[in-house]
Formats: sequence, structure tokens, C-alpha cells
Amino acid sequence: MSPDTIPLVQQSWTQVAAIAPQAAALFYQNLFTADPSLKPLFKGNMEAQGAKLMQMIGAAVGKLDDLGTLAPILQGLGKRHAGYGVQDAHYDTVGGALLQTLDQGLGAGFTPAVKAAWSEVYGVMAQVMKDAAKAP
Ligand code: HEM
Repeated sequence: MSPDTIPLVQQSWTQVAAIAPQAAALFYQNLFTADPSLKPLFKGNMEAQGAKLMQMIGAAVGKLDDLGTLAPILQGLGKRHAGYGVQDAHYDTVGGALLQTLDQGLGAGFTPAVKAAWSEVYGVMAQVMKDAAKAP
């Protein structure tokens, strides 16, 4: 990860975390517009689900400089996601919806550098989750 990535992601996340419920709602709106076929995978209360998602992204963002702690958390998350019916290709759709949400939430703060930093961080998180889902 490039040295600027972690501070850029952590700083921009504080702005999104301040509007977490709205950001979560926007995220699911973006996700289901991109791929309505993902809707049936989500069976629980969407507000509670949104809160869990924001909490997990926040926790991950806070631990980017401690990958030894973060990796096993993401591995467990990736394995559970396989059980929710999540497939590899869905990670790209979710990544796109996340970047779109950050763009909407950060406005002018969503600079090319912030976008690149989030793409890198999401890519790493998604890869760890996908690999764990395939591991025995
Ligand atoms: C970095 C990527 C992701 C993060 C941080 C994340 C986070 C979470 C969290 C924290 C939960 C709560 C349950 C648990 O902890 O096991 C959850 C559930 C779930 N996630 Fe994700 N997720 C990610 C990617 C995805 C992707 C790619 C999909 C595909 C559509 C997805 C679909 C779901 C579904 C269907 C549930 C269960 C919902 C339910 O039971 O109603 N997630 N996710």
C-alpha cells in the first residue's frame, strides 16, 4: 500500500462516518440499482445491516496499519459471506457502489487521490475475503 493511502482513507472516512445512516442507505440504493438481483441475498433488517457494514468498514479502516489483526477478521467475514451466497464477481459490484457512495458523501473531498486510495484499500479487503471464502 502506498504511504499516503492509509491517512487518505482514514481522514475521508471520518466525514462519511459522521453521516453513517445516510451513507449506508445511499450505499444500498447504489448497490441495488447496479444489480437488483443482489436484493434477495439480504434477508435481515436493512438499517441494522447498514449499521453493521459501516461499523465493519470503520473498524477495518482503523486497523489498516495493523494488518496482522485485520486479516483474520476479514478472513472470518469472507467465509461467512460465502454462506450468504456471495460470489467473487459481487465484490466488484459492491466496490463500485462503495466508491459511488464516497463520491456522493465526500463531494469535492473525493479527489482522484482519495478515490485511488479507497480503490486500493477495498481491493485488498475484497481479495482477503475472497481468498478466505475459497480456503478449506
Ligand atoms: C469489504 C467488503 C464487505 C464488508 C466489509 C462487508 C461487511 C458485512 C458485515 C459486517 C455483515 C454482517 C454479518 C457478518 O458480520 O457476517 C455483512 C453481511 C452481509 N453482506 Fe457484506 N460485506 C462486504 C462485502 C459484501 C459483498 C461483496 C456482498 C455481495 C452482495 C455482501 C453481501 C452481504 C450479505 C448478503 C450479508 C447478510 C445479510 C443478511 O443476513 O441479511 N457483502 N457484510
